[in-house]
Amino acid sequence: MHYLNTIDFSREQLEQLIESASRFKRGEDHSKPLAGKSVALVFFNPSLRTRASMQVGIYELGGNAVVLAPGGTSWTLEHRQGALMDADKTEHVAEFVRVLERYGVAIGVRTFAALKNWPEERTDPVLNAFARYASVPIINLESAMHHPCQSLADMMTIREKLGAGRKRVVLTWAWHPKPLPMAVPNSFVLAAAQMGHDLVIARPEGYELDEELLATSRQIAATAGGSLETTDDIDAAFSGAEVIYAKSWGASQFYGNSEADIAMRAQHRSKWIVNEEKMVLTNSAIFMHCLPVRRNVIVTDAVIDSPASVVIDEAENRLHVQKAVMSLLLGN
Ligand code: CP
Repeated sequence: MHYLNTIDFSREQLEQLIESASRFKRGEDHSKPLAGKSVALVFFNPSLRTRASMQVGIYELGGNAVVLAPGGTSWTLEHRQGALMDADKTEHVAEFVRVLERYGVAIGVRTFAALKNWPEERTDPVLNAFARYASVPIINLESAMHHPCQSLADMMTIREKLGAGRKRVVLTWAWHPKPLPMAVPNSFVLAAAQMGHDLVIARPEGYELDEELLATSRQIAATAGGSLETTDDIDAAFSGAEVIYAKSWGASQFYGNSEADIAMRAQHRSKWIVNEEKMVLTNSAIFMHCLPVRRNVIVTDAVIDSPASVVIDEAENRLHVQKAVMSLLLGN
């Protein structure tokens, strides 16, 4: 079993993972399912939270983390099947994965979107190459399309702060000087739908999330007793919200042309920021962000430093949910 996307897990399984994470957090679970075992962590991209929380989590479960950076501490990697490797790539994922699984019991992979080719990147080609060749569990540590460790920590944080049950949750796009990947908002939308929340996605025209992902999430939300709406009216979205989740992302129509995206988003700079004026419209909402965050760009100091902000608890919960995921995948 892999952990690539929360959609592969039922709501009941996600709730069990959150329960397991909460037991780790309360210090009630001291099990060591990784005793004497190693887990490889492969980072194509930078990280603070994911890398540190995975390393600490593996240690706390009794195991050893082997951290690799292809092109840095390990060879450059080709992922395409049938590739003629006569350019800059030294090793194929086929051998990379098969070698690593002789040493360890699972492989975590971080591989961001390059924001160059949306139709290709939305299929998660690098992550899926790892899953294709692996006979050990692959854990998605943020791919082009999904960040399921983040979204599980997000769902745990909402439950911890506001209790169980359906909440009015807003995912708001925010201005950022450059286009960013969509994995965090995609996974947040899916997980919020799976948990039956009433989700509103606020974004300016041109910054719609993936059509297929929205259609799937809308259907899942309805089945789970929740709902999914989209709007370009940020003030209306904030009105009555219990959760404000801020994130910036790039426009899929401009993948491969970041200058065009930067020009289009310029008009949204002053309006699309989370500030005190907008937070007073909410129903005493908590403020969430996956971090790292640019202060006074995505969110003002006054909001992120206010009691409403739960961003550090959210980051802490990454550790607990990842321990729960590894225990599920690797426990005896
Ligand atoms: N939220 C998150 O994944 O943080 P890092 O990029 O620092 O790992």
